[in-house]
Amino acid sequence: MLLVIPVNMEPQHRSIIRPANRDDLEAISAIEQKCFPEPIAYSKRQLAYLVLNANSASFVETLGNVIRGFVIVTYRRGSPIGHIETIDVDPAHTKKGIGLKLLTRAEDDMRKKGKRWSQLEVSENNKAAIGLYKKAGYTLKEKINRYYRYEHEGTRDALRMVKAL
Ligand SMILES: CC(C)(COP(=O)(O)OP(=O)(O)OC[C@H]1O[C@@H](n2cnc3c(N)ncnc32)[C@H](O)[C@@H]1OP(=O)(O)O)[C@@H](O)C(=O)NCCC(=O)NCCS
Repeated sequence: MLLVIPVNMEPQHRSIIRPANRDDLEAISAIEQKCFPEPIAYSKRQLAYLVLNANSASFVETLGNVIRGFVIVTYRRGSPIGHIETIDVDPAHTKKGIGLKLLTRAEDDMRKKGKRWSQLEVSENNKAAIGLYKKAGYTLKEKINRYYRYEHEGTRDALRMVKAL
């Protein structure tokens, strides 16, 4: 029997979200550099720690063998909260639903680990990220003045947002 796979179902045409691994670090770091200027961007070393060594879970979104975005969740033992450490989509591929898919996968991981809340901090001037988080159901918990060491888009102030899982 001949198996016919529609073109858009072939792996190179399918968006996949999978756990990140060591081989993904170059691509993850390249996306981070595109998303954030120095000195805000995490260094490759910091990303390697977060992805490989921290009490964390990291996922990448791929189309074919191209990594288009990633998310890193950090955990603290005994805490009911999972923390979105960062979520980045390659600027060439934003507004295609990738950020929302990554966030959803991160939240699934938190639920599997028994967490009850997802929490994150975002620059109060980061409209795209705040739009994403609001769409995903996050609400403002508090504003934190001078949260960041360096200015993000003209401010060091952050919003802490939360979502019940
Ligand atoms: C924030 C970011 C991850 C969003 O990723 P994305 O793949 O473009 O997001 P999606 O396509 O899944 O968008 C989901 C929703 O987010 C909101 N959103 C996304 N981009 C937006 C923008 N530029 N302005 C306002 N809202 C936006 C919208 O509500 C959107 O839903 P819609 O398409 O139905 O309008 C991406 O812009 C990014 O990587 N930015 C740079 C890195 C960054 O700031 N990360 C967050 C650190 S806290």
